[in-house]
Amino acid sequence: MKIDLIISADYIEENKIKDKIVVVIDMLRATSVITTALKNGAKCVIPILTVDEAFDKAKKLKDCGENVVLGGERRALKIEGFDFSNSPLEYAQNKVLNKTVILSTTNGTRALNLCKKADLILIGSMINGLAVSKKLLELNKDVVFVNAGTNGEFSMDDFICAGYMIDNILKEKYCEMSDIAKTAKYVYENNTDIISFIKNARHFEVLTSLGLQDDLNYCCSKNLTDIVPIFRNNNIDIL
Ligand code: MLT
Repeated sequence: MKIDLIISADYIEENKIKDKIVVVIDMLRATSVITTALKNGAKCVIPILTVDEAFDKAKKLKDCGENVVLGGERRALKIEGFDFSNSPLEYAQNKVLNKTVILSTTNGTRALNLCKKADLILIGSMINGLAVSKKLLELNKDVVFVNAGTNGEFSMDDFICAGYMIDNILKEKYCEMSDIAKTAKYVYENNTDIISFIKNARHFEVLTSLGLQDDLNYCCSKNLTDIVPIFRNNNIDIL
């Protein structure tokens, strides 16, 4: 089993992910939202790139009798006309049970859509990090952690989240690792308190300035659920 890591959505290349299992990470906050919505009983999550496409998709599904809600953000804020922002805390069971969540975010949904050539696309975050690590050990195939990053750039939060999962895997099994994967593990090993490490990250500061401390505490919590979301046929559901 080989482990590699891509540092942001701008660096996703077909030859790096083809025939591999990919774990897409946008822990602040898209992949935490997806995991939470499914944990709380959403039927599926559909990641959509643009706001217009999201409204179109919602209309089509509603016309077919689906129970649909729209969620996501631009500049970390709720999109006008959407039901929810990109706060995982809004996706409570009484809001999402048996509903289809259409999600449009700046970085997370973009990264997901750029990974379609991978063999399997899993969704990772701190809140389901151990479950994803166990699933990867079970599948026993080469894996690439894809960090969504922030606006195409490296982000400390997604990097340490990948490092956490790599650390879990290496406790159980020897793996051949790229230098960047080794670095992510090293960073996690030396910073197991996630908030302390990422408190100076750019997106952490943005969310703090918006008063979203509760979201940050939630998204930085380890292993709140054992579900592993999978992106297949344009929908995300539970593996
Ligand atoms: C994104 O996908 O860009 C993020 O999840 C942004 C956010 O924190 O809302």
